[in-house]
Amino acid sequence: MNAPATASSSVSQAAATDFLPLEGTDYVEFYVGNAKQAAHYYMCAFGFQALAYAGPETGVKDRASYAVRQHKLTFVLTTALRPEHPIAEHVHLHGDGVKALSLRVQDATKAWQETTSRGAKSYLEPTRLSDEGGELVMSGIHTYGDTVHLFIERKNYTGVFMPGYRAWSNPDFAPTDCGLLYVDHCVGNVGWNQMNPWVKFYEEVMGFKNILTFDDEDISTEYSALMSKVMSSGNGFVKFPINEPAEGKRKSQVEEFLEFYKGEGCQHVALATNDIVKTVRALMSRGVTFLKVPTTYYDDLIDRVGAIDEDLAPLRELGILVDRDNEGYLLQLFSKPVEDRPTLFFEIIQRKGAKSFGKGNFKALFEAIEREQEARGNI
Ligand code: FE2
Repeated sequence: MNAPATASSSVSQAAATDFLPLEGTDYVEFYVGNAKQAAHYYMCAFGFQALAYAGPETGVKDRASYAVRQHKLTFVLTTALRPEHPIAEHVHLHGDGVKALSLRVQDATKAWQETTSRGAKSYLEPTRLSDEGGELVMSGIHTYGDTVHLFIERKNYTGVFMPGYRAWSNPDFAPTDCGLLYVDHCVGNVGWNQMNPWVKFYEEVMGFKNILTFDDEDISTEYSALMSKVMSSGNGFVKFPINEPAEGKRKSQVEEFLEFYKGEGCQHVALATNDIVKTVRALMSRGVTFLKVPTTYYDDLIDRVGAIDEDLAPLRELGILVDRDNEGYLLQLFSKPVEDRPTLFFEIIQRKGAKSFGKGNFKALFEAIEREQEARGNI
């Protein structure tokens, strides 16, 4: 689930005209080479708890899926059990990555009808699944690359996760959580000149609005250039920034992603916390590694962003970035890629009023990314 709703007339007006009212992110599903180990990684390193399992033992013969949860955040790690399976082909092509950005809806049949009638390519026709927990309806459409959006209707379902899954826990292994609360936004990397077609897709097919635009003037360092538009659902609960590469001196970070992911896909998932210092300290102690900006970033930070509630020392120590917009400020930090291919990474974000995405940090951040690219020989 995404950020809780704030009561306002603009939200209720938007809801009245929104043909695809989304209640937030239901779960993010990753196709991986070894779901058992990937689930263990997210539990150990990111503080998720075991929730549910599907596989041969639950009647699912071709795959194994592990659902893990932390507060309102649910990840599903799925792997194929045989090499000729489409999931195995997905992993062969892309490496481990995000397959499904699943969205919670009241009516998954209507969501599928509204989007496919507006031009979305169907991935899954409305499907009713039931077990002793009741009935869950899901449907799905394709988005950029091999990524899909699933619409999940669980208003008549009280089971642990979904039909086909059984409760999964290990009383001998229950790592403490890291304070990760919900999905703040998910960013897609698309190919050259493909940002605007995908912006149009989210506008026309899903009723999203373009709430922010960054061009190559905003996001350009010596080498890395990209353009980005942030798409938001009508009620603001779901945000999908879309990046495309821009001409720079040498290969940009988006191009590197496209090359190693073998196409368009989800670049990063931003996870919200209410205490970024505590969360990042916990993640680091569990082995999650983050991009580091030079310590000079902090020398004039307060001049740039004004007074903040946090002490500067732990921000400097952990490398946490700060940016301000008209409505407040935000603190953020970006992990290094969580696979050997330089593809998917995570952002940790704490919003203190700001609704933006840290534009003031782009330069320092992208220079840090370029140092990593250079170390990989990909620039
Ligand atoms: Fe982000």
